[in-house]
Amino acid sequence: MDGQTRRGKALVRDPDRLIAALLEISNLVGSVMRLDDILYRIARITADLLEVPVCSIYLLQDGGKLQLRSNVGLEPDLTGKVVLEPGQGIAGWVARHGEIVSLADATQDPRNYPLPSNLEKQCRACLCAPLRIQEEITGVMSARKMEPYEFTPEQRKVFETVCKQVAIVIEKARMYEEKIKAEQLAAVAVSLSGLAHYIKNVLFTSQIGEYLVDRGLNEWNDLDRVREGWKTLHQANQKIRKLVENMLNYCRQTKLETKPVVLNDMLKQIVDAVDDQAAMRRIEMHMELDPQLGTMMLEPDSIYDAFLNLVTNAVDAIPEGRPGRVVIRSYRIPDQTNVVVEVSDNGTGIPPEHRDKIFNLFFSTKGKKGTGIGLAATKKIIEDHKGSVSFETKVGEGTCFRVYLPLQTPGAPAPV
Ligand SMILES: Nc1ncnc2c1ncn2[C@@H]1O[C@H](COP(=O)(O)OP(=O)(O)OP(=O)(O)O)[C@@H](O)[C@H]1O
Ligand SMILES: [Mg+2]
Repeated sequence: MDGQTRRGKALVRDPDRLIAALLEISNLVGSVMRLDDILYRIARITADLLEVPVCSIYLLQDGGKLQLRSNVGLEPDLTGKVVLEPGQGIAGWVARHGEIVSLADATQDPRNYPLPSNLEKQCRACLCAPLRIQEEITGVMSARKMEPYEFTPEQRKVFETVCKQVAIVIEKARMYEEKIKAEQLAAVAVSLSGLAHYIKNVLFTSQIGEYLVDRGLNEWNDLDRVREGWKTLHQANQKIRKLVENMLNYCRQTKLETKPVVLNDMLKQIVDAVDDQAAMRRIEMHMELDPQLGTMMLEPDSIYDAFLNLVTNAVDAIPEGRPGRVVIRSYRIPDQTNVVVEVSDNGTGIPPEHRDKIFNLFFSTKGKKGTGIGLAATKKIIEDHKGSVSFETKVGEGTCFRVYLPLQTPGAPAPV
């Protein structure tokens, strides 16, 4: 050993510090932090405990390569980019042999493999130990000092103890991430299956329409049947159109393309669109539109879809076989720059346990008849217009959805 090499003193002088550090690392088990954030915390705690400026954590990848997943003290952009071939460098050697390595000056060791890092090239002392779960090595942790330095047996023991705890934390964090991923995949599968059932249902209706048109024209020579079939086909088409528009509206990231819109006229068009369906179910559609409303800058297609969703939901909420009433009101709040549109029904109302879920994507109580995309898309559209949507409801009495839209959408040119 050259004259400049410092010998380690009892570095972890205070056993309480070791216990506190181990406890802090153990507490990361079950934490909701991402694995990379957990690794960074561990590297930080270990560097402080051992009083070293550099601490790095490598994890083994498939194929035996070691990826630098976290570090303190080196250039932050090395993290994730440095990948060592199997057996490469001191870390690779430790991962392959499963033994701790303690070097007063790693630059003198033939196994040393300098990383593309100016800071790492200045490091001399090195303590590097495997992260092991039972017999399986899952990674490597290293602690570095800038100057030549001989770690004491006690420091090596402390480091090994920390590494054992770290390996457990990493294993648990990985299991947790896998569990979350599996749950997310399962949720997507459930949502897709709901969507597929809805589309299948609509396609089935459209097949009935096709059948009626085909037979009506070619066999029965019955124009009434053809009309009936055509209407069924048209309704099925409308449903698919609404679904696709809602999906596109919900996913859209681009800016609104606003145009001057006479909102009252649009509300009348929406009522026209659902009028037949409402009449068949003996539902009266009533409008109270403020004639002072005038023109607003809105994106016509998406705003149409948003209000169509609310009106369709209002019609759906009225139990089959019972006459009902849907009221659409528009008005301006005096002295405020908002326009309000209310869509109210005297349907079933929304039970308390569903109230905080109705705007969630894929939440629906309509089984095969709904997708649960409607209100999620409506909320997104209204919020894209810098407006808001809320509701009041009473079980057994009905629901009122209230949409606030700014008279002028910020950033849009003034209405002509
Ligand atoms: N006016 C209302 N009265 C009672 N419940 C409502 C009303 N509007 C929405 N809901 C509840 O909110 C749920 C979600 O509505 P949303 O419009 O997002 O989906 P959906 O109507 O079920 O299907 P779709 O995506 O085809 O519109 C509905 O399934 C229903 O339970
Ligand atoms: Mg709906």
